[in-house]
Order: sequence, then C-alpha cells, then structure tokens
Amino acid sequence: MDDTRKDPWFVKWLLMASALTVFLAYSTWTVFQGKGYIAGPYRSPFYPFDFTVGNLSPAFFVFWMPVLFRLTCYYWRKTYYRSYLLDPAACAVPELKRNYTGETLFPFILQNFHRYFVVLALILLTFHWKETFASFFYQGSFGVGVGNVILLCDSVFLTIYVLSCHALRNFLGGNINKFSCSHCGQARYQAWNIISILNERHGLWAWISLVSIIIADMYVRLLARGVIVDLNTWKKF
Ligand code: FES
Repeated sequence: MDDTRKDPWFVKWLLMASALTVFLAYSTWTVFQGKGYIAGPYRSPFYPFDFTVGNLSPAFFVFWMPVLFRLTCYYWRKTYYRSYLLDPAACAVPELKRNYTGETLFPFILQNFHRYFVVLALILLTFHWKETFASFFYQGSFGVGVGNVILLCDSVFLTIYVLSCHALRNFLGGNINKFSCSHCGQARYQAWNIISILNERHGLWAWISLVSIIIADMYVRLLARGVIVDLNTWKKF
C-alpha cells in the first residue's frame, strides 16, 4: 500500500470536521434555550414535543434520540472516525495506532445498537410530521407561509435520511434467501428496493438533513425575535 499520498486528502476531512463542529455547537446551544423556538404556527424541529419540566426546554428531553441515532449512523461513524479520530485518516494514509480492533470492543461495540436507534428515529419522525402538518393551521384557519415550506422541506429531507438507513435496509432485505418465500415477501422486496435507491446517497442525505434542521431552527428563532418577517396567507404575525 502506498502510504505517501501527495494529494491534499486532509482537506475534505478538515472541511467535514469543521462543519460537524459547527453543527454540534449550534445544536447544543439551541437544546438549552428555554424560549424563542415558537413563532406563530411554526415550531423549531429541535422541539417536537410540548413537554417541559421547570426551566428545561422541551428539546432537552428528546435530543438524545437523534444524537444516538446520528452518532451510530454508518456514514457519520466514517466521518468522525476520519476527521476527529484520524483512525483511519484516509485510504493509503498510515494510522496513528496499529492495534486496530474495529468495533468489536468497548466502547465502539456499542455502535451496533444503531439498529435499535433507528426505531427511535422513526418514532421521532412521526412527531416531526405532526408538527409540520400542524404548522399549516394558525388560530383555527388554514394558511401557507415561507415557514411551512422550510419545515416541510426539513421533514422530507429528514425522512429520506432515516429511510435510507443501512440498518433499515438490512432489516427489510437481510437474512433471507428469497423474497418470494419469505413472510410479506413482495411488500418487503418493494420497500427494500426503494430504500436501496435512497441508500446510494445516504451520506448526502445525512448532510442535507443536518443543514435543513439548522435552517429551520434559525428561521423560527429569527421570526420569534422579530428579526425577519414571514410571508404568509394569514397576515397576522
Ligand atoms: S446507517 Fe446512517 S442512519 Fe442508519
């Protein structure tokens, strides 16, 4: 193996590490904000529940679900193993340590729980959609605004990201020799086919859904602070 790569292989991972750091810093900040996450019919996607205790924000009670889901995602693992841990830094680049044990020992063996965290993500997704649909109704009347479009896009991107999950794909199509001989074979085959198409760009959906949730949260916060105004058919806020 050629371990003397001359190309700037580190640029990609430097950019990814920077973007990931910005996202982590922003989401940590927003999770601890107790207000400013609702504007008119819009609600920040970081706060899918209206549940709070004391001064703790609603996001505080659910943030661990997407964190565990993304942290153990195959794509994000690759990203932070390379950009944060440099383990491995890139193809054909020598590793810092040689005793590679993969994900067979603690703590990395816990990454295997991703197959269960995808269930949490699916549950959370239903609340996302509930809030997205609810945002079309304000003070009893139906309307459409820029905020609806932003929240809708965010829910769509998040859904594609979750549905393109490798573990979900394996759940539907793994461990069977013939779809035609398995329980609900036809339905599983069709679902597996759709997920396989989405799965080809799983990394892309991971990034798009990350950016879209930040844009949606920022939009609601800026609206709530009166920094921007929302173009909508209600003309009330
Ligand atoms: S592998 Fe990325 S979300 Fe499951």
